[in-house]
Amino acid sequence: MDTKTTVIASEDLARQARICDEIKEHWRGQGIVPRAYVDTYGCQQNEADSEKIRGMLAACGYEMAEDEEGADVIVLNTCAIREHAEQRVYGNVGALVHTKRRHPGQKIFLCGCMMGQPHVVEKIKKSYRHVDGVFNPHQLWRFPELLRQALSTGKRVFAAEDSAGSIAEGIPLLRQGGVKAWVSVMYGCNNFCSYCIVPYVRGRERSRHPEEILHEVRGLLQRGYKDITLLGQNVNSYGKDLGLGIDFADLLAEIAGLPGDFWLRFMTSHPKDATKKLFDTMAASPKIAKQFHLPVQSGNDRVLKEMNRRYTRAQYLSLVDYGRQVMPELVLTSDIIVGFPGETEEEFEDTLSLIEKVRYDALFTFIYSPRKGTPAAEMADPVPRQEKNRWFDRLVTAQNKISEEIHLGYVGKTVKILVDGAEDGVLTGRTEGGRLVRLAGPTDWIGRFVDVEITGHTTWSLEGKPKVQ
Ligand code: 5AD
Ligand code: SF4
Repeated sequence: MDTKTTVIASEDLARQARICDEIKEHWRGQGIVPRAYVDTYGCQQNEADSEKIRGMLAACGYEMAEDEEGADVIVLNTCAIREHAEQRVYGNVGALVHTKRRHPGQKIFLCGCMMGQPHVVEKIKKSYRHVDGVFNPHQLWRFPELLRQALSTGKRVFAAEDSAGSIAEGIPLLRQGGVKAWVSVMYGCNNFCSYCIVPYVRGRERSRHPEEILHEVRGLLQRGYKDITLLGQNVNSYGKDLGLGIDFADLLAEIAGLPGDFWLRFMTSHPKDATKKLFDTMAASPKIAKQFHLPVQSGNDRVLKEMNRRYTRAQYLSLVDYGRQVMPELVLTSDIIVGFPGETEEEFEDTLSLIEKVRYDALFTFIYSPRKGTPAAEMADPVPRQEKNRWFDRLVTAQNKISEEIHLGYVGKTVKILVDGAEDGVLTGRTEGGRLVRLAGPTDWIGRFVDVEITGHTTWSLEGKPKVQ
């Protein structure tokens, strides 16, 4: 692998922009308004990448379609984090044979983390011949060039060279909605947790220049966005590669200092890199949401070591204590893997006892899934799937009880929410801590902060009625 991060030169990006103009001309010459469909799997990083893909497609003259039927270009932005995510993609790519038969000019592209794995690219090449193009996360900025090649030659294009990764500034973005926005602050991951494929497919950690980030956030606030989430696989490493003497807490403080009424969030934080300074910065700024996603993965020290997480249960718990000490209202969420190779029932029970101790507001729980090329995939994994399913159910039941108790505690309280959408005639919004609230109200409240009295709850959400404005 090439180990150097490349900053993509502005001339190279300008060339892609010119290619977009050419593609636009190509369609205009035929009197056609082409349509594109982008389907996203996986995490927020992929959602953010899809906004770039849509931005590039819009610059090429494409209108966005609601589904794949009849679209002139289909892009599947894939996820490799677990086997199940990959199986879904293979199933959906397979089904596109029929869609393409009904619309023979259709171009099908696959990108995202699955395409960062050479064995997957080989499989697509050999067994999914209706796919016109593939690009991995490092090659995303070259999409216009790849699209033009596929359109003009009719041949398949594969851009899947491995690299440490690049930073490309100035790719056009087409965002969905006008209230919440994601802003990538860094890309890649250096942690190599033993179960995880991400460092292999997304390359080394690389931070965007703070001025670029501030410029993007200023623009979003001017356009009325009210909820900004800073994104990175491990935001707490932000700045280490820049040598500017600025860390993630500094960046957060600078953004929170921008004028306007908004909430600032971030994800994801690795516990080994979360600092007291970060918690203090959060506590000091009313604009930084009091919400922390702090994946623990396991509550057992031996398993944590095997996972290469580089913290202990005690260190994790003391971090949580500090966070709560400076922010008693802190909403905490986490990720947990059940059934890591060699995990015993007692070790799993340490995870159960940890969640009882921490009392997270919500958990994202996963059964371990072996990923080819990662160290954990080579470890002995004697526990049968059925047993792991049972542990998983115990964990979910325990967490549901905790989440419900916490939700019950909201009832009767008045909370400030940001209204961000409407579903079936009911408004939806989020509290500062990110809890989902449903309420009745006019759709022109979307994008507004509203005080709501919480009147009811479910495991997953709260119900409320607006206080008189
Ligand atoms: N199997 C199961 N879960 C995984 N995660 C990452 N890799 C795997 C894997 N191989 C989970 C971790 C991570 C979240 C995004 O996905 O909990 O925090
Ligand atoms: Fe994967 Fe660990 Fe990096 Fe998160 S920190 S992306 S779990 S390797």
